[in-house]
Amino acid sequence: MHKPISIVVFGVTGDLFKKKLVHAFFDLYKRGELGNDFVLYGYSRKDWSDEEFRKYVQEHLNTKEVDVAEEFVGHLFFRSGDILNKDTYDSLKTDFGERDELLSECTNKLFYLAVTPELYEDVFINLSHSGLTVPCAPGTPGQDGAWIKLIVEKPFGRDELHAKMLDDLLGKLFLEEQIFRIDHYLAKETLQNILAFRFGNTLFESLWSRRHIEKIEICSYEENDLNGRGAFYEDVGALNDVGQNHLLQMLALVAMENPASFSSSDIRRSRADVLASVNVSHDQDGFKRGQYKGYTDEPGVEDTTETETYFKATLKIDNERWKEVPFVLSHGKALPKTKAEIVVTFKNGNNNDSNLFIKSANVLTFHIQPKEGIAIDFFAKKSGYNFELEKKTLAFEYKSTHKTPFVYPYEKLLKDAISGDQTLFIGTEEIASQWRVVSEVKKVFDNIPLLIYDKGQTPEELLSETLEE
Ligand code: BG6
Repeated sequence: MHKPISIVVFGVTGDLFKKKLVHAFFDLYKRGELGNDFVLYGYSRKDWSDEEFRKYVQEHLNTKEVDVAEEFVGHLFFRSGDILNKDTYDSLKTDFGERDELLSECTNKLFYLAVTPELYEDVFINLSHSGLTVPCAPGTPGQDGAWIKLIVEKPFGRDELHAKMLDDLLGKLFLEEQIFRIDHYLAKETLQNILAFRFGNTLFESLWSRRHIEKIEICSYEENDLNGRGAFYEDVGALNDVGQNHLLQMLALVAMENPASFSSSDIRRSRADVLASVNVSHDQDGFKRGQYKGYTDEPGVEDTTETETYFKATLKIDNERWKEVPFVLSHGKALPKTKAEIVVTFKNGNNNDSNLFIKSANVLTFHIQPKEGIAIDFFAKKSGYNFELEKKTLAFEYKSTHKTPFVYPYEKLLKDAISGDQTLFIGTEEIASQWRVVSEVKKVFDNIPLLIYDKGQTPEELLSETLEE
């Protein structure tokens, strides 16, 4: 039997909670993963009552399962407080104490930081100073096995130095096994499937190196513009927002070595090792940065802003398997179509005219979203008198074959954090390498112009325009 769990969400009136976390907690509750004794204290500076908070949650759940939702929100409590103020933590400690006393049990405690990274340092220090880094007051029954865990949202820090300072501080206050740094991309089924695909099929793994692969392109394009999130985005930009985390994690999965086992520590080790070998390419053409027209009209954005809403960066991996293979990462907002994919282009035979058949390259695509699956382009004989080749595709799509519904990333991550599985969370070495790579890319960006593109312009058009400049 699991111990009861007390959850604290800092930043509960923000976007993340209403868009993702509320649904994830509700689904976990319905599946019995939170138990019947859980409570969630939601913190914000707003002056809401529990009832107002519960109504807000029900509105955002917007579910037909009205009775279960009613039961669920009965476990939620609103706490008005400034997370920069020590008193907030003292009153939280009182809440915890009363609850543990009521249950005569030292409950597990999970803190979720859904706030801007600028506030992390204060939260870490306040948690520590108020004694909230230990599960309960001395003398509370059931201390054995009770835990405190901390979930930290991305972006973890604002640059390499800031992230290092935060990580060092976290390391002093918590053990690594208590820290869960989120990158929700890792919990997408289509990303988890990259490892299954690579290491579960000898057919492909033997071709997975510079001997056979020409280049790997990793992209995440979004049709939406910032739509009111400009003030937040101003200090972040496309590279930090998506490149530093989601795209580099995709790179890690596609390029990492076979882990020694499928344990959490071995998988994290393999991801960390490959990220430690990533460098920027010296090819200036491999880098672009752009901003869509109209971004400066966003509230909170200066007219003279240089923040990029699109970028392309070419990276190399300095190891035996990948030396010289370009990994091209790109991401942008206000592009014509939303899609994320990893495109692996194989070498085109031996580029020798005497090879009659191979005129075009085989391409393997991991479709991450919205299409979810894997496709391989290959060549077959065109029927008819002549011996001609034509391109065909071998494709697998999740929707057509999987009967069980997807588990959404945040639900999976919360479940794993509660059970203590860190596989899909970012380790301290990964964070350090990701920021180091971003710092190197930024140095290149400092020397290239910011392109202004029309909303809905394709990345190809955007790039060709640059070349003409
Ligand atoms: C978030 C970024 O981490 O990921 C957003 O802050 C981005 O700007 C989002 O839109 C993309 O996530 P998903 O799961 O919708 O592809």
